[in-house]
Amino acid sequence: MKILGIETTCDETSAAIVENGTLVISNIVATSSDFHVQSGGIIPEQAARKQIEYIIPVIKKCLEETCKKLNVNLNNKKSKVKSFEILISSFDAIAVAVGPGLVGSLLVGVETAKTVAFVTKKPIIPINHLVAHIYANWLALEYTSDISTKLKLPEFPALALVVSGGHTDLVYMRNHGDIKWIGGTRDDAAGEAFDKTARLLGLPYPGGIHLSKLADEYLANLKNKPPKFDLFPRPMINENNFDLSFSGLKTAVLRKMQDKNHKISTPELAAQIQEAIVETLVYKTLKAIDKYKPKSLLIGGGVSANRRLKELFTNKISTSYPHVDFFAPHPKYSTDNAAVIASCAYFNYKPADWEVIAANPNLTIIGER
Ligand code: KG4
Ligand code: ZN
Repeated sequence: MKILGIETTCDETSAAIVENGTLVISNIVATSSDFHVQSGGIIPEQAARKQIEYIIPVIKKCLEETCKKLNVNLNNKKSKVKSFEILISSFDAIAVAVGPGLVGSLLVGVETAKTVAFVTKKPIIPINHLVAHIYANWLALEYTSDISTKLKLPEFPALALVVSGGHTDLVYMRNHGDIKWIGGTRDDAAGEAFDKTARLLGLPYPGGIHLSKLADEYLANLKNKPPKFDLFPRPMINENNFDLSFSGLKTAVLRKMQDKNHKISTPELAAQIQEAIVETLVYKTLKAIDKYKPKSLLIGGGVSANRRLKELFTNKISTSYPHVDFFAPHPKYSTDNAAVIASCAYFNYKPADWEVIAANPNLTIIGER
């Protein structure tokens, strides 16, 4: 089954065609990120306007690319209607991210997806953006002429850490559609911590990527004895739960920056911040592994693109939990994209009437708030 996924929750506009939840045939992503650099953060109104501008060209490009890859001839000179029919025959169902996200951005994707469902009379599946991030770990195949690559897919029960710009959640999955929330941030999300501290360091938007790049360069160039990475707090790690808190980090970094006598370079500060965030995430996740004993550990969301986070998880899992399979997405599927929406819909196939599907900006990983 081929599903057309649509994702417009924030500043990315994306459409993808994924076959049987694992094979990405096309994944087109446009972003309005560049338009938010000057303001140092997303302007929701601007993001929504860009969604409107991008959505149809992105879907069209995705369907055209799919037809091309499947060797379907689109050049029907006699009839545009015929070409349109060929384009829409390249998928069996539509999946759309209905939340959480920015309301203006969400509405664009949701209403467009409903229109596509209405016009094509195909089933439509509403998808939770946060759950979809976990499905990046099922996107194991790319469409090439040789698709015989051996698949290694996550097994259940699984523990999943979703780390995005607005959310940080730890969930236990007994199966597809059987998700239990076991912990998460009480204040700022991990991505937010990266972004806000990056801004304090004077780095451009989106801060997470710039901060981690600076930190990695610093770590790679360490010649002398490395410093102790204990400059900033790891809150709540000794509490007997799976909750996290990152708002204190921002304050600690601000205090350090205001201290005129500090002699720590910006790259070292970046490394100290990255280490504080990453260690806290890994520490709490390993604690959850001890309790829930999953077969697989999955990470997803923008912060799962972080090199150091993956390195630390890989090291800890291979030394202390060799029976657990660790999965981290390819970076292009960590950040917002529609392929994960389509994959999630395949494994959680629950079509709804288009009339009842609505954007829900406040959706949580386990449903309504
Ligand atoms: O999942 P995502 O693309 O969008 C949301 O759903 O929020 O996540 C975006 C977040 C941003 O906070 C961004 O700074 C962070 O992911 N991010 C990173 C990295 N790449 C993206 N944080 C740390 N290291 C990275 N390499
Ligand atoms: Zn996201």
